[in-house]
Amino acid sequence: MNIIRAKNYEELSRMAATSVAAQLYEKPDSVLGFATGSTPIGTYKELIADYKRGVLDFSRATTFNLDEYYGVPVTDENSYYAFMHTNLFDHINMRSEAIHLPDGMAPDAEAQCVAYEAAIQAAGGVDLQILGIGNNGHIGFNEPGEFFPAKTNHIKLTDSTIDANSRFYASRDQVPTTALTMGIGTIMAAKKILLLISGAAKKGIMEQAVFGPVTPQVPASILQFHGNVTVLCDFE
Ligand code: PGA
Repeated sequence: MNIIRAKNYEELSRMAATSVAAQLYEKPDSVLGFATGSTPIGTYKELIADYKRGVLDFSRATTFNLDEYYGVPVTDENSYYAFMHTNLFDHINMRSEAIHLPDGMAPDAEAQCVAYEAAIQAAGGVDLQILGIGNNGHIGFNEPGEFFPAKTNHIKLTDSTIDANSRFYASRDQVPTTALTMGIGTIMAAKKILLLISGAAKKGIMEQAVFGPVTPQVPASILQFHGNVTVLCDFE
């Protein structure tokens, strides 16, 4: 794994946006894997700024997001669909039909997972996947467990993730408890992965993921087995 230590969050965001830009310069019809969460917001701001300056073009790109809450409509401001549109898609020239997130309102969650996985395959797979990491080591919504889920699946969020996400809700009991997420196998199939880790509070989980044993108890640790991962953090 290639580990890069940025001076601060601004530099991390600039470097991550530069990686996305380089990917699009090299292959304008790239398939980009995007993530939600606080960490990539700065990266998305930089991408918007590049687009507005006229140096970045998303018109031929395709995107797949890692995950979406289940049972939450796109009109809900806490849906990941809304997050991505507010923080990125509404401000760049992505074609709406090239934007993909799992459908959190699909009546049959399992069928939606199969369809999402098939759509990624049909697009030729993800060229560059942006990831954040949860306090518990999750990537996407693949929570610590007994095995690494292979494919897009319908998962139950752990208490620690529900606690972390409750900051966006008036009360903890409003936080969705299940989600649709790319599996670990889906993520590992990306050609390149950029893992963004911001804030000294994540230093411990970063060290477990990057230097510790590969175990489904720390889902991000599987990235040690991927041939093209850059870890970009903003702490020593
Ligand atoms: P955060 O979330 O960027 O809001 O810390 C990361 C994650 O849970 O993947």
